Amino acid sequence: MRRRFALRARMSDFSPNWLALREGVDTRARDLSLPANLVAERPDGAPLRIMDLGSGIGANLRFLGPYLGRDQHWLLLDSDAVLLGRAPEAMRMWAVDQGYGLSPAGEGVRLVGSVFSATLCWRRLDLAAHLNTLPFDETDLVTASALLDLVSRDWVDDLVRHCSAHCCAVLFALSYDGRMLWQPKMGADRHVTYLFNRHQGWDKGFGPALGPAATDYAAQCFRKSGYRVRRVQSDWRLACADATLQEALVRGVAEAAMEVDPDQRAQIDRWLIQRLGCIRRPASALVVGHFDLLAMPPPA
Ligand SMILES: C[S@@+](CC[C@H](N)C(=O)[O-])C[C@H]1O[C@@H](n2cnc3c(N)ncnc32)[C@H](O)[C@@H]1O
Repeated sequence: MRRRFALRARMSDFSPNWLALREGVDTRARDLSLPANLVAERPDGAPLRIMDLGSGIGANLRFLGPYLGRDQHWLLLDSDAVLLGRAPEAMRMWAVDQGYGLSPAGEGVRLVGSVFSATLCWRRLDLAAHLNTLPFDETDLVTASALLDLVSRDWVDDLVRHCSAHCCAVLFALSYDGRMLWQPKMGADRHVTYLFNRHQGWDKGFGPALGPAATDYAAQCFRKSGYRVRRVQSDWRLACADATLQEALVRGVAEAAMEVDPDQRAQIDRWLIQRLGCIRRPASALVVGHFDLLAMPPPA
């Protein structure tokens, strides 16, 4: 789980399997009114130029592309070579499944669907170190999914400055907000969640992570820069049908909690065993709190 749930600062924290496992649940959870808002506000005509920060194997594009419609140009950025290596194949499989055309285009690919078309270019980049090298001046929308809770205050400050200087719209999806609500309840749930949330504040490569405070902080910064901000809950709602994801998540939560307080290993282990025992029961459920955030620049 250390490799899966933003628990460490290493570049290889996110396995392609974990990202594939969560994609369906992310799609279910994400808010649809925010992309609709974006479409309404953007003039038609030239391709919509989009940067996806921490793009992984491309889930954000697969969600947003069809909603945004029209022609799009995507720059997909990630530091993880393994994920970037898997992304084109994940996109090809999706295109086949959806009946979209896919052909090589320069160093990327061209995707043509019935409601949208897009040119996709991938670039390997450490966003913590090289944010200032990105082409904000040639970007209409800066977006990320499941990234904002990993970054630091300083990094958000820099990002807001760049976006604001070039009037980029911003959409951050699926930022964890600190809530984990299990059914059936157990006595140790709150304490384990507390330990896990402390872990979420550890450095994930960008400096001390904002963790559950990320959406609040980013919203506040964009508002101060004159942006109009909308924030909508996009909670994961997991049932026993999501048992594989739940199991991976619960193991990761326990591992993180033990790292924060190794003295409580035995208690956390007991919690883990009981939790794993519940997951496949029909009444078992887990809500994991997330927010989607849209920030629109002030009119020029
Ligand atoms: C939770 S995953 C989300 C991936 C994808 N957006 C999705 O929704 O499936 C976080 C992503 O951020 C990337 N990432 C983490 N630190 C990074 C950094 N310093 N520079 C660039 N990408 C980074 C990871 O490699 C990973 O792909």
